[in-house]
Amino acid sequence: MSAKVISGIETAKAIREELKNEVAGLKEKYNITPGLVTVLVGEDPASQSYVTAKNKTAHALGIHSEQVTLAADISESELLKLIENYNNNPEIHGILVQLPLPKHIHEAKILHAIRPDKDVDGFHPVNVGNMVLGEKCYLPCTPHGILELLTRSGVKTSGAEVVVIGRSNIVGKPISNLMMQKREGGNATVTVCHTRTKDIASHTRRADILIAAVGVPKMITVDMVKEGVVVIDVGVNRIGKTVDGKAILAGDVDFEGVREKASAITPVPGGVGPMTITMLMKNTVQAARQAHNLP
Ligand code: GUN
Repeated sequence: MSAKVISGIETAKAIREELKNEVAGLKEKYNITPGLVTVLVGEDPASQSYVTAKNKTAHALGIHSEQVTLAADISESELLKLIENYNNNPEIHGILVQLPLPKHIHEAKILHAIRPDKDVDGFHPVNVGNMVLGEKCYLPCTPHGILELLTRSGVKTSGAEVVVIGRSNIVGKPISNLMMQKREGGNATVTVCHTRTKDIASHTRRADILIAAVGVPKMITVDMVKEGVVVIDVGVNRIGKTVDGKAILAGDVDFEGVREKASAITPVPGGVGPMTITMLMKNTVQAARQAHNLP
């Protein structure tokens, strides 16, 4: 069997088209322009390219987007001051601070300073808590994108054995929680593997749906999966550079090997990545609606 390739680019395109119309409608009917600010601290090339992509997408959808780039040695208090300004700026509905932050800045302190109703990343404890409780909240963008990819590709999650590899706050923890919830796109039996798991392959071989978010290039090989598995590869690993200086990317999954056994698989690039950005746009539009008491 050769797997169906689940294209994040195509799925993202469809959702972006919906969002573009929604943004145009908000402008026309209510004179509202959703506003986003992205904050980048330092010069990490991966973070730079993510933030650039987020801004470019926002502009393409008609969302007002500001990018703030700060020196790596900015103080924590200066960053907090900047966030406070955006918390109080009515034209900005969503605030995103790109992670990771330099070591001298306390990440949690920064994320907790963002007003929960502007926390379009869904990282503030209020949003995380509401997510776990199944209440209304901003869903974190990558897990949200994975849910959309699965449901829009017709993958049945109810009763499925889902194995998540990785327990980060950004992906592993929220996606494992969302997939076990009593909701559409959930109702799965979820196993979470991590660095202390004794025998990862014994778990991955049971998976109907395998979600890899570890950051180790091509770690999941064909011998670690069962026939017909659906594979979601969240890894974006820079494994080299082309002659013209562009990053060569690899996922956490050995795509060429695993695709022969899987029923469906996401590629890297072009899988989860475009969905993450699209869900950020969706949250920003939702934030603008909420700020104006629109449903
Ligand atoms: N770094 C890697 N993924 C993300 C994300 O989804 N949001 C932010 N803010 N930083 C990230």
